[in-house]
Amino acid sequence: MCGIVGIVGHTPVAPLIVDALKRLEYRGYDSAGVATIEQGHLARRRAEGKLVNLERRLGEEPLGGLIGIGHTRWATHGVPNETNAHPHFAEDVAIVHNGIIENFAELREELSNEGFAFASQTDTEVVAHLIARELRAGKAPGDAAFAALKRLRGAFALAIMFRGDEDLIVGARNGPPLAVGHGDGEMYLGSDAIALAPFTNAITYLEDGDWVVVRRSGIEIFDMDGAPVARQRQQSIGTSMMVDKGNHRHFMEKEIHEQPEVISHTLAHYLDFSAGTVGNFDLPFDFAGIERMAISACGTAYLAGLISKYWFERYARLPVDIDIASEFRYREMPLPKNSAALFVSQSGETADTLASLRYCRSAGVPIGAIVNVRESTIARESDGIFPTLAGPEIGVASTKAFTCQLSVLASLALKAAKARGTISAEQERDFVRQLSEAPRYAAQALKLSERIEAVARELSHVRHVLYLGRDTSYPLAMEGALKLKEISYIHAEGYAAGELKHGPIALIDEQMPVIVIAPYDRIFEKTVSNMQEVAARGGRIILITDREGAAKATLKTLETIVMPDVPEFVAPIAYALPVQLLAYHTAVIMGTDVDQPRNLAKSVTVE
Ligand code: F6R
Repeated sequence: MCGIVGIVGHTPVAPLIVDALKRLEYRGYDSAGVATIEQGHLARRRAEGKLVNLERRLGEEPLGGLIGIGHTRWATHGVPNETNAHPHFAEDVAIVHNGIIENFAELREELSNEGFAFASQTDTEVVAHLIARELRAGKAPGDAAFAALKRLRGAFALAIMFRGDEDLIVGARNGPPLAVGHGDGEMYLGSDAIALAPFTNAITYLEDGDWVVVRRSGIEIFDMDGAPVARQRQQSIGTSMMVDKGNHRHFMEKEIHEQPEVISHTLAHYLDFSAGTVGNFDLPFDFAGIERMAISACGTAYLAGLISKYWFERYARLPVDIDIASEFRYREMPLPKNSAALFVSQSGETADTLASLRYCRSAGVPIGAIVNVRESTIARESDGIFPTLAGPEIGVASTKAFTCQLSVLASLALKAAKARGTISAEQERDFVRQLSEAPRYAAQALKLSERIEAVARELSHVRHVLYLGRDTSYPLAMEGALKLKEISYIHAEGYAAGELKHGPIALIDEQMPVIVIAPYDRIFEKTVSNMQEVAARGGRIILITDREGAAKATLKTLETIVMPDVPEFVAPIAYALPVQLLAYHTAVIMGTDVDQPRNLAKSVTVE
């Protein structure tokens, strides 16, 4: 999603803003811009595409000024070109915006009727004109911004600068996050702490409905009634975040390789390995007392939730309703008494997941959230949080956050099973031991990288791929397909292997690679039957299995990737890695922008 940076400084800010925007690149964007007040005038440089284009523009025509705002734009209203890139100007107002102004069409019409001329197709520009109109009416900048804010519907974070006041940026938050950074005689505004990390680690997060007046001497925060509000100043962990690629070509590769370590950290947070028990962490609900649990999330986080449905139902006998958040939020699901809700989100800011959470909140259901960003909105609005200890995930395609989500969910499933009396102490010890070995399995899976790269060469020539799996390998098949399509742009579908003959089998011919995820388990033979159906129609099978599976699947495959022997419970965590590596290598061979695939954003703060 869009990134926002603002600086009220004492040295030229444009280069600093561009540097900070680079730290927000991971969020995904398709144009960028920066504006300052230069010799008393609003001035800006904008460019379509990556930040290097903006840097080139600034190299040709540098921008002075001690105050400025910058933006990376992920297009929602209007194509990604220079005219639609932020900052937008209207008379004495410069503005950058993240999110969507839902009533922009009616506001635009109102302003157009009054003679305001629009230069772009964006929803953002209406906000600039609204404020300009208030300034014309004689209001002071802060009051003008406040009056305009009250007219806006939708989700937004804004940073606004005013010609004539070189010591003022107004920020506002209604949905997407916005943080103020406190410097020494300098102040900053950013859409996350990572952007502000080089400047300061003293951060104040705005809450929904807050707006802030930022001056060099300090800040004042107000609510939507205009009343001052106090928000805590926190030490961000931002400065200690390692936001570089190390020896890796891409953040995605680095993050795939970090998994043994981060899975281990995450599991150690929830399990007592030496005692062989689930830890004593707090819960927002009592697993023993609930009859159903609703889980909701988007994308990869949803697929982690889907895997956990098998775990909660199988081991804890707890029925789980799992939904994609964009469906859940509108489908008016009845939430019976004695139910609980769990939300899964790396960023903790995904608009649909947050809306689903609020739906459950209004139904009075206790809420837990599995998040990677502890300061996020979803974390703050939950009754209890279960952090994933993955560290910052910069690659747009989620990898380490996924396996850490699975690690938390597996631990929670054991906690539930224990509370509900569906596993014995001995089984608990056994499951905890199995999970404790997940980092080792992940490390072994990484060793298959070269072999997987060879398979990726085959995939890089095709346009369509089918992924199949049963049980927990079915959501993993969908995850494999999602990963492949998002970074290599190859069309891929993940199916339950048993569903093949109900339609997708029509697609099978000699051109179609079929990736089958099938550890040797109770239902392996069933999957083999499905593979036979594929083989009989000339489909090219790439089998991801273990030694026993490789020995027992006596049919011709294009490739068999042999994983370490992994207990069934832990298999989804371990098998996620070859699936991620396959997508990664395919994308690298095809030369796509692996870390920032086209059209995608890391944190999806719009509906
Ligand atoms: C895919 C991917 C997305 C996210 C989804 C939810 O690789 O990263 O599908 O999983 O946008 O994001 P969070 O977890 O931040 O709520």
